[in-house]
Amino acid sequence: MKPDRAKPPGSDGRGLAEPGFGIAGLRFADGLTRRPGCSTNRARSGMLRHLMQGGDRNQPELRPELFRRVDESPDPLFYREPRLVTHIDDATIEALTELYRELLPAGARVLDLMSSWVSHLPSEVRYARVAGLGMNRQELDRNPRLDERCVHDLNSDPELPYPDQSFDAVVNAVSVQYLIRPVEVFTSVRRVLSPGGLHLIATSHRLFPTKAVQVWQALGPEDRMRLLANYLERAGGYQRPELLDRSPAGADPLWVVVARRSDESLPGAA
Ligand SMILES: C[S@@+](CC[C@H](N)C(=O)[O-])C[C@H]1O[C@@H](n2cnc3c(N)ncnc32)[C@H](O)[C@@H]1O
Repeated sequence: MKPDRAKPPGSDGRGLAEPGFGIAGLRFADGLTRRPGCSTNRARSGMLRHLMQGGDRNQPELRPELFRRVDESPDPLFYREPRLVTHIDDATIEALTELYRELLPAGARVLDLMSSWVSHLPSEVRYARVAGLGMNRQELDRNPRLDERCVHDLNSDPELPYPDQSFDAVVNAVSVQYLIRPVEVFTSVRRVLSPGGLHLIATSHRLFPTKAVQVWQALGPEDRMRLLANYLERAGGYQRPELLDRSPAGADPLWVVVARRSDESLPGAA
């Protein structure tokens, strides 16, 4: 079921690899640290600052054009056919599985957001519940880790179809670049998380270029992490995120943003 490595990137259902990424890795030259977290107020620089013009100084505008895509047709068309391929190298999948092993305790209720036929969760760990939400029914049906499956287009409706505090962890693997309303989705993720629950967003350098939002394609890895931190800040109700570089040597990179839902109630909440 592995894609043919000899095929040009993009021809096997995987996204295109962007040249140069993953060679230098993440260098947080402005003092932004991977551990224990980052200040998202300081977390804008270079291209990201250039793109996020307008708005006030502390919270520049995320202009709608940043979320345009080459293919603006409804997502169900693009995801109509199942893609039973992996989207990152085996070593990168192993690194992600190891991170899940470290951060997701046995017995947790887990939502695999933007899920497909594989969830990368450690096979030996028993979770209380693993729900998967994605675009293709056949892919979800093939996923052996899922206890329940939901086909739901987050770009047409960013509200998650789950009650408040349904999950202890929401994971999103190599897919966040396809969200055109990410702040609304992150707000809804916060709602379905229990207090202290984990929102883990794993990214790499491959993508479907016609479906990834413009802002993602314009940024390098550091700024992409900052952009995700900024989505979390805008959504509100999260603790300061951690930015992790878990890239294995000689394989697709793995850059991860992890944030816990804070216990504090949001301003204006009942
Ligand atoms: C690159 S695949 C990654 C799949 C899986 N998370 C993995 O790690 O292999 C992108 C996934 O994002 C999901 N996706 C894309 N657009 C979506 C949307 N508008 N709403 C919900 N899911 C979406 C697709 O169903 C697809 O499974």
